[in-house]
Amino acid sequence: MPQRTIIEPFRIKAVEPLRFTTRAEREQALAAAGYNLFTLHADDVLIDLLTDSGTGAMSSEQWAAIMRGDESYAGARSFDRFHAAVSELTGFAHIIPTHQGRAAERILFGAMVSDGDVVPNNTHFDTTRANVEFQGAEARDLVCPEGRDLQLDAPFKGNIDLDALERTLAEEGDRVPLVLVTITNNSGGGQPVSLENLRGVRALCDRFETPFILDACRFAENAWFVHEREAGQHDRTPREIAEEAFRLADGCTISLKKDGLANIGGVLALNDTEVAARCRDDLILTEGFPTYGGLAGRDLDALAVGLTEVTEPDYLRYRVRTAAYLAEKAWDAGVPTVRPPGGHAVYLDAGALLSHLPQSALPAQALACELYLEGGVRGVEIGTLMFGRPGADGAPDEVAPHELVRLALPRRTYTQSHVDYVGEVIAAVAARAEEIPGYRIVEQPRWLRHFTARLAPMAG
Ligand code: F0G
Repeated sequence: MPQRTIIEPFRIKAVEPLRFTTRAEREQALAAAGYNLFTLHADDVLIDLLTDSGTGAMSSEQWAAIMRGDESYAGARSFDRFHAAVSELTGFAHIIPTHQGRAAERILFGAMVSDGDVVPNNTHFDTTRANVEFQGAEARDLVCPEGRDLQLDAPFKGNIDLDALERTLAEEGDRVPLVLVTITNNSGGGQPVSLENLRGVRALCDRFETPFILDACRFAENAWFVHEREAGQHDRTPREIAEEAFRLADGCTISLKKDGLANIGGVLALNDTEVAARCRDDLILTEGFPTYGGLAGRDLDALAVGLTEVTEPDYLRYRVRTAAYLAEKAWDAGVPTVRPPGGHAVYLDAGALLSHLPQSALPAQALACELYLEGGVRGVEIGTLMFGRPGADGAPDEVAPHELVRLALPRRTYTQSHVDYVGEVIAAVAARAEEIPGYRIVEQPRWLRHFTARLAPMAG
C-alpha cells in the first residue's frame, strides 16, 4: 500500500464513554487509594494502561459466538469448540480449561513442583514466581545477557540464556522439575523469544529429560516478531510460527485474557497423560468440571473465535505498531524506554528519568503516580514495589533489578488519538521530572505486595 499510516484494522460498533476528572479529583482519589494505582476506582481513570489482560474489545464474531454458548455442566458443545481451537493451535494431547492463567500455573506447579526445587524461566511473571515460591521452590530467571541491558536494541531480548540453563540443569539435576519459557517475556519488557532459542531449550530438555513448558500468554505477538525479525521466517505466517513454537514444548499454561482476545479464561495443556490426570483432579476440586474449568460456556466460545482471530497479520501489524508509536512519543519527550518496544506495552525507564530518587524511594511507583495525577493515565509499576522485599532481620530491603513503568495496551480498545494524548501526558511529566517526590510503603501483605500495599509520598 502506498499509504504509510498503519490504521486500526476494524471499525467501532459499540462505544463506552470515558469519564474526565480534574487534577484535584485525581489527587483526592490517589490519596484515598493509598497511592496504589491498583486500589483506584476505574471510574477515576481516563486511559487505563494498567494491563492488557482481559481488557480488550471483542469482535462481532466473538459476540455472535457468545450466543452459541452451551451452559451444560458436562460435555458442552462450547467445550468441543474450545478444545478444537486449542488443539489445532498447540497440538497438545490434554486440554484443561481454567478461569485464568494463574489457576493453570497453580494446578501445574501443584502437580509437578516440590519443596526445594528450582524452576528456570527467561523471566517469571509475578504470579508465576509467586506460584513457584508457594510450592517452596526457587524461581530462577535466566534471561539472555542482552535482555538485561534495557537500552540495547536487539531482536530477541526475551531469549533464555542457553548456557546458564544448561548449567542449571547439570548442577541441579532432579531438582529441576520443568523448564519454563515465557513468550513474550512480559517482565523483561515484552521482548520476544526466537524459534531458534526455543529449539535450543527443546534440545537441552531432551538431553536432561526435563519437561519444557511454555508460558504462552502472548504467543501471537511473539510469532509476529519472529515473522518480522528471525532469519528464514518472513515467508511463514504468524499462525504457522505459533504452531511450531507450541510443538517444540511438552505443554503450556496460557492466560487467554491476552492473546485469547477475551475478557476471561486460561488453559493448561499437556502431553503427559499421568500429570494431566493429576491436574484434572485438582481442577475439579478448585476450578470446576474438566469441560468448563471455571469458565462459562459462552467464554469458551468467545475464546475459540479469539484464538483464530489473534494471528491475523493485519491485526498483529497494527498491534505491534501501536506500542512502537507510543515508545516514539516517549523518546521524543526525552523519556528512555526498554528497547526495542515490546508487543503489548511500552516500559518507561523510571530509574533513568527520576535519577534523583534512590531505589528505596520507589522511582517507578513515583512516575506511575505522576502520570495518573497529570492526565488520568494508569500504568503499572514494575520495580521495587513489585519485586523488592523487606530485608530480613534488619538487613536492607531487597530492590528490583530495574525501575520501570509499564504502559500496557488493551487489545483493539484505544485509538491513535488516545495514544497521542498519552504521549502528551508523558511529555508534561518528563518536563518536571526532578520535582517528582519519592514514595515509602506504609503497609504491605506477604505475597504480591504491589496489589494491595499502601504508600505515602515522601516530603520533598
Ligand atoms: N504469565 C504471564 C507472562 C502474564 O503476563 C500473566 C498475566 C500471567 C502469567 C497470569 O495470568 O492474569 O490470567 O492469571 N499478566 C497480566 C499482566 C496480569 O498485566 O501482565 P492471569
